[in-house]
Amino acid sequence: MRAMRAFVIPGARHDSVQLGHVPVPRVGPSELLVRVKAVGVGIHDSYFLPPDISYPYPIGIEAAGVIDEVGSAVPGHRSGERIAFVSSMQQKGGTWAEYAIVRGDSLIVPIPEGLSFEQAAAVPVAGNTTLRAFHALAPIPAGGSIFVAGASGAIGTFVVQLARAKGWEVAASASARNHDYLASLGATKTVDYHDEHWPEEIRQWRSAGVDAALAVQPQTTADSLAVVKDGGTVVTISGDRVIPARGVKVVAPSYEVDVRGELVALMEQIASGQVRLVIEHVYPFDEALAALAKVQTRRARGKVVLSLT
Ligand SMILES: NC(=O)c1ccc[n+]([C@@H]2O[C@H](COP(=O)([O-])OP(=O)(O)OC[C@H]3O[C@@H](n4cnc5c(N)ncnc54)[C@H](OP(=O)(O)O)[C@@H]3O)[C@@H](O)[C@H]2O)c1
Repeated sequence: MRAMRAFVIPGARHDSVQLGHVPVPRVGPSELLVRVKAVGVGIHDSYFLPPDISYPYPIGIEAAGVIDEVGSAVPGHRSGERIAFVSSMQQKGGTWAEYAIVRGDSLIVPIPEGLSFEQAAAVPVAGNTTLRAFHALAPIPAGGSIFVAGASGAIGTFVVQLARAKGWEVAASASARNHDYLASLGATKTVDYHDEHWPEEIRQWRSAGVDAALAVQPQTTADSLAVVKDGGTVVTISGDRVIPARGVKVVAPSYEVDVRGELVALMEQIASGQVRLVIEHVYPFDEALAALAKVQTRRARGKVVLSLT
């Protein structure tokens, strides 16, 4: 049995992640085996796990790599293909490993020419979440406005740019140190969430309120609701529970909506330079725990990535 290196949760009574050696998972008929080259890191990686897993369990839900084996019932893929993917709730283990199993019906996209594995691994979860969040919005005309709470992270970096591309005006929050960065992405109004008066600043910017808000960071939905116009929408990305008011709808991005085609297009826009991909830091695989610690601070600008190349 072939063994591989992986960052694992060693057992049911452990909540820490550690480097271990585990068997390379066996590919089933409806699965792909991928040689992982780079991994996108998220705060959810250490706790977003399928039920009834067997230990030691490799964590992680997104990566980029090369297809090593194609299950007999998976159409449209070939070994040697460069792909990026989201592989959540995978019983056979996650992506923080030298090899990962991916179900054939997962969100899998080809890596365009000119994009490295590290760049490609930074896109699937943040891109998918951004695109699903946009689907949750009621239509906003060009010239409309949105507020993004937590705009300097991986998701917010895409949200600001894609909103501007739709012709919307964007107000965005982060610490003051990130305001030039938000402006460089296209935000026209920036506020510092450490300043308790920031909702008033948004109200001064759009007196009737913004058309919609995307509350990316936890505990930002209630304040975001307060700056949205009557009857507008708040998309809560971190799952805050708040009581809607003034006819404002509070919704979460749906897992049902299929954004694969849009994700393929986003990867191509990144490869062609139309959309900026921002990576805070690429950590060597051996330093994965430092990468996890970084995202747990919630201070990363853009995405954190692990490299296995
Ligand atoms: N619903 C879904 O499907 C889904 C999918 C993926 C992720 N998520 C959730 O999305 C969240 C964010 O993910 P991410 O990877 O984009 O971002 P992230 O890495 O957590 O974002 C970090 C950035 O957010 C800023 N920030 C931190 N706290 C803030 C606050 N209270 N208000 C405004 N800005 C704040 C920081 O700026 P400063 O350094 O300037 O403070 C930093 O640049 C996570 O909670 C994750 O669980 C949800």
